[in-house]
Amino acid sequence: MSCHLIENIFSKIFVCPHAEVLSDLIASRRVVVITDANVFAEYCDELQGYEHIVIEGGEANKNLYAVQSIYRQLMAMNADRSTLLLGVGGGIVTDITGFVAATYMRGLKYGFISTSLLGQVDASVGGKCGVNLDNYKNMVGCFSHPEFVILDVDMLRTLPQRELRSGMAEVVKSAIIGDKALFEMIERHTTEDIYMDSRFMHEVVERSLRVKLSIVECDEREGGMRRLLNLGHTIGHAIEKLTHDYNHGEAVAIGIAMVCRVAVQRDMLCADESKRIVMLLERLGFATSTSIPIADIVREVKHDKKMSGSELNLVMPRSIGHCEVVPMGYDAFVRLFE
Ligand SMILES: NC(=O)c1ccc[n+]([C@@H]2O[C@H](COP(=O)([O-])OP(=O)(O)OC[C@H]3O[C@@H](n4cnc5c(N)ncnc54)[C@H](O)[C@@H]3O)[C@@H](O)[C@H]2O)c1
Ligand SMILES: [Zn+2]
Repeated sequence: MSCHLIENIFSKIFVCPHAEVLSDLIASRRVVVITDANVFAEYCDELQGYEHIVIEGGEANKNLYAVQSIYRQLMAMNADRSTLLLGVGGGIVTDITGFVAATYMRGLKYGFISTSLLGQVDASVGGKCGVNLDNYKNMVGCFSHPEFVILDVDMLRTLPQRELRSGMAEVVKSAIIGDKALFEMIERHTTEDIYMDSRFMHEVVERSLRVKLSIVECDEREGGMRRLLNLGHTIGHAIEKLTHDYNHGEAVAIGIAMVCRVAVQRDMLCADESKRIVMLLERLGFATSTSIPIADIVREVKHDKKMSGSELNLVMPRSIGHCEVVPMGYDAFVRLFE
């Protein structure tokens, strides 16, 4: 498979087997790998050849304690500003590595090998890094870009199936936001296990990423357009807070389906396109509704927005490949779902 360098203004982004580019990228620099226990177990033969720091995975460990522990281990290793940090893992590893690299000794160079589908199509690019504080996601962080990002779809072969599917929700999200051809490509794909088709996954990762990059290049700090990337997330986040039954992608899939139904009721999206979106999500194995009462979901949305101090901007699909950010008050939001 050919190695693609994706044009953008932030980092060198490669979609290819990491062995093809890594040695040139790290050249003769001192490298410290930061990874999590699962990824280390899978790729131990290769990773133990580097100085490494292995963190506990999981959202509950994406916090300032983990950051502090990494700072201390870097100090014990005498890592300095010439050291390159290499985050190898999913979104949790890359979010933490970016934050550590941006702050340790006022900043080190860093790169990522992104190993989860969600990481490859979303978390590893765009410059947001950081950790959770108490019950609030990504409360502490910064904008900072790695020197390089390697998206190696072959590494997805060891990713658990449910994690793959979770990432696929973000792929469908990207397609609805800005790439109708990607949506149709997934619709047309008939193979039972699409995740094993590496040529297809290569294309899926690259196209999803281009949607994200084109938006973030116009609005890095989320003043406007970047909010489009929150399609399905206002409701998805509320669902994730209310129950542990769904992982992130599963909750986002329900959120996308729910806003599609509302968009049809408000004549913003035609019924046929909404049906296609819901059918595709279901074919990929997602639930598109939940037994959680809508009253609980909207209450959680209100609580979340109040605590984070952010405005309510609902992303509504207008057609497959085109969405719109609709700013609204909480009461208007509640009325939409009545
Ligand atoms: N910075 C951003 O712009 C951004 C965007 C979206 C999400 N995120 C963050 O990303 C995080 C979620 O990322 P995620 O879904 O990748 O979760 P994750 O990092 O927890 O990875 C999912 C699971 O898969 C394992 N894993 C990863 N790659 C593997 C591989 N190749 N083989 C075997 N196991 C592997 C991990 O150990 C973990 O158990 C959240 O914390 C979220 O806030 C950040
Ligand atoms: Zn998401």
